[in-house]
Amino acid sequence: MKKTVIELFAGVGGFRVGLNNITTIGEDGRAIEKGPWKFVWANQWEPSTKTQHAFDCYNMRFPHAVDNSNIDISKVDKASIPDHTLLTGGFPCQDYSVAHTLSHSHGIEGKKGVLWWQINEILQVKRPPFVLLENVDRLVKSPARQRGRDFGIMLRCLSEAGYAMEWRIINAADYGHPQRRRRIYIFAFHNSTKHYKEMATLTPAQIISKKGVFAKEFPIESFDENKIKVFDFVEKYGDLVEVSDKFKAEFENAGFMIGNKVYTVKTKPIEEAPITLGQIAEKDGVDAHYFLNENQRKKYEYLRGSKKIPRKDKNGFEYMYSEGAMSPYDELSLPARTMLTSEGTTNRSTHIIKDPKEGKLRILTPVECERINQFPDNWTNSGMPEKRRYFMMGNALVCGIIKKIGNQLKKIIEKED
Ligand SMILES: C[S@@+](CC[C@H](N)C(=O)[O-])C[C@H]1O[C@@H](n2cnc3c(N)ncnc32)[C@H](O)[C@@H]1O
Repeated sequence: MKKTVIELFAGVGGFRVGLNNITTIGEDGRAIEKGPWKFVWANQWEPSTKTQHAFDCYNMRFPHAVDNSNIDISKVDKASIPDHTLLTGGFPCQDYSVAHTLSHSHGIEGKKGVLWWQINEILQVKRPPFVLLENVDRLVKSPARQRGRDFGIMLRCLSEAGYAMEWRIINAADYGHPQRRRRIYIFAFHNSTKHYKEMATLTPAQIISKKGVFAKEFPIESFDENKIKVFDFVEKYGDLVEVSDKFKAEFENAGFMIGNKVYTVKTKPIEEAPITLGQIAEKDGVDAHYFLNENQRKKYEYLRGSKKIPRKDKNGFEYMYSEGAMSPYDELSLPARTMLTSEGTTNRSTHIIKDPKEGKLRILTPVECERINQFPDNWTNSGMPEKRRYFMMGNALVCGIIKKIGNQLKKIIEKED
């Protein structure tokens, strides 16, 4: 089996940086890829802007005249996507509910613009043996009024397409990375693979605790097997529409699905010391514009302070919105908090540090943000405005997590031969 990959919703290429252990950029601006994965296709299209900064960055680091596609994924003819062993992608948490189509009573329709349906279509058309997805952790709880429904729909789609899967919610800082970023990672494998057959001989407890991809790279404390919850979402729910209308489940941070059953249990990481902000911060001074002037300092003091603000909800109902105090700046002895797309704007969630050289308060530089996600320095220095560089990092992922998952995927694929 070839180690071929496609990267969907590629952004600036976090999966590729992680899987191919990219730590440097060559003088020509290209990434120096150590392998072993061959990326045969990538797709990235930003609907909200005319200029395609993420795609331009991806294309500069990985120039391929024909293999990088910059069009809306819904417009891509799925059969034209090259064959691949591994499908990767980080996609948004949206409303995955479905209904029967009115015109064809047997058809099923999801909401327009919901990107899961695009992934699902590729799975049906291309049947990649392995799939690695990343999403926000609230995916397992969405939507609030029918908890677990969206994840249940995803599981059901994977199951109908012949996949088993394991998932884990991982906070990168728990395993030695520089950011407290909690994300769900989903690894699915088709029933035609040897890996599937091997996993089918094990118990869910064995897979979640020791034998699965996540267990091998992200060790957890032992847990009581009796606490594993089991959901049946095939026999109980006739079709996807029934899952969409009725399914509810309390999914935990780890789980496994095979056939018609889903198993889930709460797990605790065996923690490693994280990389801290102090370790990634520039030590020799940074440009003056990163430092806070008096006006900005006061704004941040207010934004990060505790406050109560009267607000109205959409029905006109007045309520008191309150926020607790944050520390006035982020400690260099800790890993970064979760980086959002608003990083670098005057915002409560923007990181503020005491510059190691001058001891004065400042925002992070784009390079420091890249280090927090474990991209090579200056990765997004590809011609986009500085503000967009922060945005790209807010959207991206902690590449070191993907690198670790990649170690296991490599072994699995080599065993398939
Ligand atoms: C969460 S980000 C993924 C970031 C990526 N993993 C990285 O490392 O940079 C999702 C990406 O999907 C892209 N996107 C959104 N809608 C899309 C569509 N309809 N077709 C293709 N890409 C889309 C966004 O522009 C964004 O870059």
